[in-house]
Amino acid sequence: IKELLQSADVKAEVYAKGWVRTFRNNQFVALNDGSTIHNIQCVVDFENTSADTLKRITTGAAIAVKGALIESKGAGQRFEIQVKELEILGDSDPEKFPMQPKKHSLEFLRENAHLRVRTNAFGAIMRVRSVLSFAVHQYFQEKGFVYVNTPIITGSDAEGAGEMFKVTALPFDGTPRTEDGKVDYKKDFFGKETNLTVSGQLEGETFAMALGQIYTFGPTFRAENSNTSRHLAEFWMIEPEVAFNDLEDNMDLAEDFIQYVIKYVVEKCADDLKFLEGRLLEEEKQKPQAERSELALLDKLQFVLNNNFKRVSYTEAIDILRNSKPNKNKKFNYIIDEWGADLQSEHERYLVEKHFKCPVILFDYPANIKAFYMRLNEDGKTVRAMDILFPGIGEIVGGSQREERYDVLVEKMKALGIDEEELWWYLDTRRFGSAVHSGFGLGFERLVLFVTGMTNIRDVIPFPRTPQNAEF
Ligand code: 4AD
Ligand code: MG
Repeated sequence: IKELLQSADVKAEVYAKGWVRTFRNNQFVALNDGSTIHNIQCVVDFENTSADTLKRITTGAAIAVKGALIESKGAGQRFEIQVKELEILGDSDPEKFPMQPKKHSLEFLRENAHLRVRTNAFGAIMRVRSVLSFAVHQYFQEKGFVYVNTPIITGSDAEGAGEMFKVTALPFDGTPRTEDGKVDYKKDFFGKETNLTVSGQLEGETFAMALGQIYTFGPTFRAENSNTSRHLAEFWMIEPEVAFNDLEDNMDLAEDFIQYVIKYVVEKCADDLKFLEGRLLEEEKQKPQAERSELALLDKLQFVLNNNFKRVSYTEAIDILRNSKPNKNKKFNYIIDEWGADLQSEHERYLVEKHFKCPVILFDYPANIKAFYMRLNEDGKTVRAMDILFPGIGEIVGGSQREERYDVLVEKMKALGIDEEELWWYLDTRRFGSAVHSGFGLGFERLVLFVTGMTNIRDVIPFPRTPQNAEF
């Protein structure tokens, strides 16, 4: 259908298959096949079509049409199909099909994740997501990065945050059992304790120390019971890791990468983004003036492309927050006094949306609020961490320069009670040919959220996994 709509000229005979979005006046079918946000209008010769067939052209039905591609008299479309033959491929009972042509709530659509993709908005979101993931690969491949598939089942907790899903093999003959004969879930993957990965970083680092520049792009899992609009239990993460890069290089890479993929999608998905922008404008109209966003979606994306991300140290950020006045309507109730505290999302949003009004890279965080593998600064209390914060999203990237000094790393692990023996292979990177290296993780769904202007992360992944959504 996309190709037909982009034809140079009329054509005597064309074919199309797709799903009926609407059927008006017993004559006009809006047909969509998922290739584009646009439907093609198919004009049915109702006088020469059986009453039975006409009755079966219902929203959701799959049909095939054959006819002539002609200039359309209707507004908003150049071509339409003058139907000569129409075949019903699959009926859709209008009494039962949930996706009727009216506005459904996002909650309702989430419960029907298998059908919501048949709506305009979700079709657009999923095409944008697909193009974005292609852009991710293209960016790194053009730069000579090697794509690495890190394990999904793993024995290590890369973030040391203990938010892991345990992997359980069904009991087999050799299943370890406790004394009372029950399955020993602590040692359950063929005798070992394993989890679903929270991050491919540690394995990625070992590859970067051989291949130089690598990236991962795969599913990651967090057993956090946080029911926010920014967290999923299963999400996709992109994790580049580069030997000999320091934190500055890491920031440059992250900024360049994000701008590249956004530019790519703005060019390739113009129609879908325009549709999503319109959808958002409608939604904004329901909000009070003060809460409406200042920029329309495409302007917001352009803004990110045309402006450098602001680089600010954690210490400077705390000063800004200390000197900020509490907001009257309490939207930003952020006062932070203590150096060393972790920033809450309202702090991050204040910095990005109210203070700097652009994407922000925060760096040099206190060591005690960050993961064990980050490189300790000379001050002995901050680490070479960086988080990238985006307007409307908060943290979109977390990364760091890694601690490449064996002794310092081991000492840190000891202090945190991380078992050296379990991470012996990771420590080997520091034992043999250690070097400065850095990397980051970008939460793919948070990027898709930003690009599509959606507000709930459950709406930018095909089948969201959250404490409420584990069906399908
Ligand atoms: O900040 P995080 O936890 O960092 C890491 O996992 C590092 N190992 C990355 C690295 O340096 N290679 O997660 C990275 C990003 C976050 O900034 C956020 O965008 C996303 O992953 N993220 C989530 N996205 C959706 N749902 C969740 N529960 C997420 N947790 C993190
Ligand atoms: Mg983080």
